[in-house]
Amino acid sequence: MRKESELRLKMKATAIAPANIALIKYWGKKDDQLRLPLNPSVSMNLSACLTTTTVEFATGHRHDQVEMIGEEISEKEIARVKDHLNWIRKLGKSRLSAKVVTKNSFPKSSGIASSASGFAALTVAATAALGLRLPERKLSIMARIGSGSACRSIPDGFVEWKEGNTTGSSFAYSLYPPDWWDICDLLLIVSPGGKKVSSTAGMAEAWTSPFFEARLENIKDRIKKVKKALKQKNFILLGETTEEEAVNLHAVMMTQKPPLFYWNEGTMEIILAVCEWRNQGLPVYFTIDAGPNVHLITEGKNEKEVRGRIRSLKNVKDAIVNKPAKGAVLAENHLF
Ligand code: DP6
Repeated sequence: MRKESELRLKMKATAIAPANIALIKYWGKKDDQLRLPLNPSVSMNLSACLTTTTVEFATGHRHDQVEMIGEEISEKEIARVKDHLNWIRKLGKSRLSAKVVTKNSFPKSSGIASSASGFAALTVAATAALGLRLPERKLSIMARIGSGSACRSIPDGFVEWKEGNTTGSSFAYSLYPPDWWDICDLLLIVSPGGKKVSSTAGMAEAWTSPFFEARLENIKDRIKKVKKALKQKNFILLGETTEEEAVNLHAVMMTQKPPLFYWNEGTMEIILAVCEWRNQGLPVYFTIDAGPNVHLITEGKNEKEVRGRIRSLKNVKDAIVNKPAKGAVLAENHLF
């Protein structure tokens, strides 16, 4: 018979998950609670933007505790983690409280949406800690309920999130492994601190933009183009479609009510520089999420040249170099 201490040890697990950059973006839900999206999306996992999370369920914990190493965590964020633990406890038929400790490899000042890596790592660690052995699809579904984009951080490499109409049919899967294509994502930091309006709040008003319906219509064509570009390793098609998609998303954001202006002077400086570099023959494109920082997409062979040129930009405070990465995995070393 196993000792009590051994049983308790089994109730603890740690996972590492990457953030991801959406080439085709998720913006708008048809079910807020289940986070069912209004369109499919396509992304790439980011090798240098990782969240590590340890979850321990134990009779000794009287209530859920959530801690983030090196960062403040708001009451609202803690409540969202607890809600997610409730979904996982329901699945695992457990009533035990949890201790959650988490840390990001990227600085808070980067303003990266850590919800994707955060909820992917939480899902994998918490389900494993409860002894659930879930297949990738189910992990992706559970992560999606925590934060939509988190479902794309479960599978490896280049990923598609199938829109679906029910919770069981809306999940992400790997299109290609990380080593399929040597793509580089240079995340340029122009503004420290978190974003003013969260993605969750921002996308709730998507329908107020007169352009949103048109976006949902023409996104189908862009999905096809991005998947074709990935299949054929056609970088120009990938870059052009990714950039068009980002501008289309921000046109919707800026025309929502109230309008969302995520760009600042630094964002604009980068956009104009990228267009200029391209005119000079350098294949590099940009994409932007719900914030002012800019992701530059280029092929590995042009990474050095792009990094050199970034030095001339006066608003860029930091650059994080990402390659395509694996999805969420369990790890041996716990954070506590
Ligand atoms: C602009 O996944 O953060 O980054 O499901 O409400 O948690 P919630 O939203 P979230 O939205 C991400 C929005 C985006 C585009 C994308 O990553 O697809």
